Amino acid sequence: MRSELGAALASCRGAFIAIGLVSGLSNVLMLTGAMFMLEIYDRVLPSRSVPTLVGIAILAAGLYAAQGMLDLIRSRVLVRIGSALDEDVSGRVFDTILRLPMKVGKVGDGLQPLRDLDSVRSFLSGLGPIALFDLPWLPLYIGICYLLHPWLGYTALGGAIILIALTLVTEMLTRRPTKAASSFAVSRSQLAQAGHRNAEAIVAMGMVGHMVHRWAEANRQYMAGQWSASDVVGGLGAVSKVLRMMLQSAMLGVGAFLVILQDATAGIIIAGSILAARALAPVDLAIAHWKAFAACRQSWQRLNKLLAMLPSERPTMLLPAPREKLTLENASASPPGSAKLVLQDVSFKLERGNALGVIGPTGSGKSSLARLLVGVWPPARGKVRLDGCTFDQWSSEVLGTHIGYLPQDVELLTGTVAQNIARFESEPDPKAILAAAKAAGVHELITELGEGYKMQVGERGEAISAGQAQRIALARALYRDPFLVVLDEPNSNLDAAGDEALTKAILGVRARGGIVIVIAHRPSAIAGVDLLLMLNQGRVQAFGPKDEVLSKVLQRDAPPPPRPLKVVSEKGNASS
Ligand SMILES: Nc1ncnc2c1ncn2[C@@H]1O[C@H](COP(=O)(O)OP(=O)(O)OP(=O)(O)O)[C@@H](O)[C@H]1O
Ligand SMILES: [Mg+2]
Repeated sequence: MRSELGAALASCRGAFIAIGLVSGLSNVLMLTGAMFMLEIYDRVLPSRSVPTLVGIAILAAGLYAAQGMLDLIRSRVLVRIGSALDEDVSGRVFDTILRLPMKVGKVGDGLQPLRDLDSVRSFLSGLGPIALFDLPWLPLYIGICYLLHPWLGYTALGGAIILIALTLVTEMLTRRPTKAASSFAVSRSQLAQAGHRNAEAIVAMGMVGHMVHRWAEANRQYMAGQWSASDVVGGLGAVSKVLRMMLQSAMLGVGAFLVILQDATAGIIIAGSILAARALAPVDLAIAHWKAFAACRQSWQRLNKLLAMLPSERPTMLLPAPREKLTLENASASPPGSAKLVLQDVSFKLERGNALGVIGPTGSGKSSLARLLVGVWPPARGKVRLDGCTFDQWSSEVLGTHIGYLPQDVELLTGTVAQNIARFESEPDPKAILAAAKAAGVHELITELGEGYKMQVGERGEAISAGQAQRIALARALYRDPFLVVLDEPNSNLDAAGDEALTKAILGVRARGGIVIVIAHRPSAIAGVDLLLMLNQGRVQAFGPKDEVLSKVLQRDAPPPPRPLKVVSEKGNASS
């Protein structure tokens, strides 16, 4: 089966055929120099005819110009093929960047697919592919050398074999260092990104020096990888160039020998030597671009693997919007790329109008449950159903409109407050934005901000405080009244007013017949819920009406009866 990238390139088939034809013509025109030389030596000089000289000079000039034009066309078409490919697949590649972390976990900085696409495009638009198009013409040149004189043909053939062997050696020697260099590039950029994200903590705690040290180490490894590939290519490139010059002289030498034997003319030997040099030029070019070629090939394979792993979504049947219930049947979850179950055999059922509070110690799997409920982690075992349908029966786009999610580490995206609330819809509904802000009780807070809904916020919620970001994110979760609203510690940064707004929002969703799930550390967040689930080490400890569960928890966690106090301070006091 053809890979996705292969199919995208195949759609440029016409352009490739055109390049092939242009390359053919250009290679024939490339004979101009040799033929001109042949004519000068064998016709113009013996006849001493100026008009002949002028005539063939004009002809040669015309042919050179035509060849230049063809080369120009060829490289322009290649650039366009590169950008057509990019345009075709870059949307898909970005899509995989967003979905990959949920499939295999976070690997590197996650931007490798974009770099890979860049590398494929830039190779396609460079001189590398031209070498590939010119190489097939090598036999033609050697054939013409042979026609000039068989010995010249053999000499050129010998040279070609040596140079092609050299190309294969380049291929073998660059394979490993290129791979290593690209993996070092990933860890280097990961470090840079982490530094950028945590700049404030790093500067405040005097970690700059240590980070610079780590950076220098990563950079050194990356550079070393780059060097060894460049050294191979540079070294063999130099060898191939010397060999080519030697071959050119060898052709002259063999030609001179033939002239002495009176088997050839002077024109033939010079034309032969030019032809031989010309024939092997693409081999030189190929060696010079081998590093880029090897990198491009690696990127190509990586991208194809990735695209095959995350196929584009097939359109699914349009299901009616969920409006009745959420059910979990023995659902277990494990983080992407890991087999460890962090949540085991969770079963419960919520009806419209229910709100469930989830409590439990740190690391008990509360956030994992949230991810399972919003569908970013598929269940490792068991089922999660909305109105009886498992999440994979929905297209993720449509499912998303029925879900509101406030993650534990809130981040707003670069854009205005209104855009963030409207989830960056291309045609947001101002009424829905306002309704969401009101439901989240954040309308007043927003209007008090400098520019209100038009205020620009940054990626880490720069320009607004953590609590403000959390409240705006609550409005985003409530935008267009989703059926299922999952809030992961929505009050971790809130004050009393924020807590009140949160409780109102939860009651609001219940009143309109939605389902809310609130994960909480502080009891103020669960004021508006009617059911409670207690998690411990990934397992359900208790589930039921809030008061029942709370009293059970309180009973178990009640402090042990006080024991008689022992006096322990005697010794300490004595020594002081
Ligand atoms: N992406 C991940 N990769 C690997 N392990 C993970 C991942 N996410 C969570 N875990 C593991 O799952 C367990 C539960 O984590 P989870 O974030 O669900 O806890 P939590 O109850 O939300 O804790 P907290 O109250 O601190 O937010 C932890 O032991 C954690 O190590
Ligand atoms: Mg959590």
